[in-house]
Amino acid sequence: MQQKIADAAAADIKQTHTITSKLSPSFRKVYMESYGCQMNFSDSEIVAAIMQQQGFLLTTQYQEADLIFINTCAIRDKAEQTIRNRLLLFNQQKLYNPALIVGVLGCMAERLKTQLLEEEKVVDIVAGPDAYRDLPKLVSQVDQGHRAVNTFLSREETYADIEPVRLHTNGVTAFISIMRGCNNMCTFCIVPFTRGRERSRDPSSIVAEAKHLFSKGYKEVTLLGQNVDSYRWVSAAAAVEGSIVQKNTVVNFAQLLAMVASIDPNLRVRFSTSHPKDMTDDVLYTMRAYDNICKQVHLPVQSGSNRMLKLMNRSYDREWYKERIQAIKAILGDSCAISSDMIAGFCSETEGDHADTLSLMEEIQYDFAFMFYYSERPGTLAARKYCDDVAVEVKKRRLSEIIAKQRIHSLRHHQKNIGQVYQVLIEKQSKKSADFFQGRNSQNKIVVFPKGKQQVGDYVYVRIKDCNAATLFGTLC
Ligand code: SAH
Ligand code: SF4
Ligand code: F3S
Repeated sequence: MQQKIADAAAADIKQTHTITSKLSPSFRKVYMESYGCQMNFSDSEIVAAIMQQQGFLLTTQYQEADLIFINTCAIRDKAEQTIRNRLLLFNQQKLYNPALIVGVLGCMAERLKTQLLEEEKVVDIVAGPDAYRDLPKLVSQVDQGHRAVNTFLSREETYADIEPVRLHTNGVTAFISIMRGCNNMCTFCIVPFTRGRERSRDPSSIVAEAKHLFSKGYKEVTLLGQNVDSYRWVSAAAAVEGSIVQKNTVVNFAQLLAMVASIDPNLRVRFSTSHPKDMTDDVLYTMRAYDNICKQVHLPVQSGSNRMLKLMNRSYDREWYKERIQAIKAILGDSCAISSDMIAGFCSETEGDHADTLSLMEEIQYDFAFMFYYSERPGTLAARKYCDDVAVEVKKRRLSEIIAKQRIHSLRHHQKNIGQVYQVLIEKQSKKSADFFQGRNSQNKIVVFPKGKQQVGDYVYVRIKDCNAATLFGTLC
């Protein structure tokens, strides 16, 4: 179950969508598939906006598409294999439609660049995460008989001026990218290579986007970045929230969070991901000051072993991490959910190191976690300098021990929630039954309950009656 959640979170999500565009000189249809993290899903919405502005239509059926764009993830080998399998399918589609254009976008495109064209003959366009404005031009290059590549990584691009076309939407919750790239260089991670240097987006455009969403009926925004705590924007004199921000004014993440939370008490705010080395008490105090900032912190630890953390270049140790957890509890109390990411079987990990991860989990008792076994990524420091020497069976066994422990902890947390009343934002009809709604509480727990008079997008109070490790079940108060 947890593995399923983990996969869904980072590598193997697939979603497709339909939009229609009024202006379509060509009436060509684009089919889009997205894989990977929330950032990638958010990026696909930017791509959709760029294509729509150029008059392309979008379709959910790849069989009727003139262009297929696959927005890819490179975080683990398995993620890339999934995409290669999809490309096999699209290759067949070219037999039916020889004019079909296949574009590989995102992190795998950035990692492999022109190599992708050599390895995957079906691919016509390769576009990295900072090249999406160029997509219409890349399409016309293909129209002229060339294969087209743009994997230029920018130091400025934030797509701040592009209003995303909300593809992955229930009309209630939306993602807002607040920054791009990552400067951290964790030794196992491909992201700094695929997404480039960190850059923060102008806060006025973030606030404007959140306000616009709220005016359209959205009730929750999730502010996205690889490392939101290092959000830092230096102004060149601008108006933010009605007041003029002076030149060289710095806006940090805690301030940005407050700006978005101030839009309306009925607009919930979430954020992801926090890095333990950067998460400040200021952010925690801001969370405490606003009821509408959800009480959940995703603080990936990766390992409980100091030796591993050092090899991973995470810039903190177990003690520092535990101190940050204490700060969360001291400032926000026990009502704040804490989640993590964990990697099993990193280079040279011993049974002792693994035991340290299990013991840290025991001490912290996360509400939930995304868990993976280590997958070597070419070009990373770990791939160049360390040896991927933990056998796959050992990695898998350690991962299953981590997952089993987390399942116990998730269930234990949920059991403690029984009898409590939570405010829940209704997101959709439950998958299991048309008679039930599904939403989340502030702690990001999924809550399922029998429908009343309320609608999707309403806040309701639910008393928890039952649970499993993944879901809380309750009734309306
Ligand atoms: N910026 C976020 C993580 C983004 S990647 C952070 O620093 O927390 C999401 C997760 O994928 C990571 O937290 C890590 O647990 C996992 N991951 C990254 N590279 C990996 C690799 N090479 N093998 C296995 N898991 C990996
Ligand atoms: Fe990867 Fe580390 Fe950056 Fe997260 S902080 S994206 S794990 S390099
Ligand atoms: Fe994957 Fe790129 Fe996100 S590698 S996890 S899609 S930043």
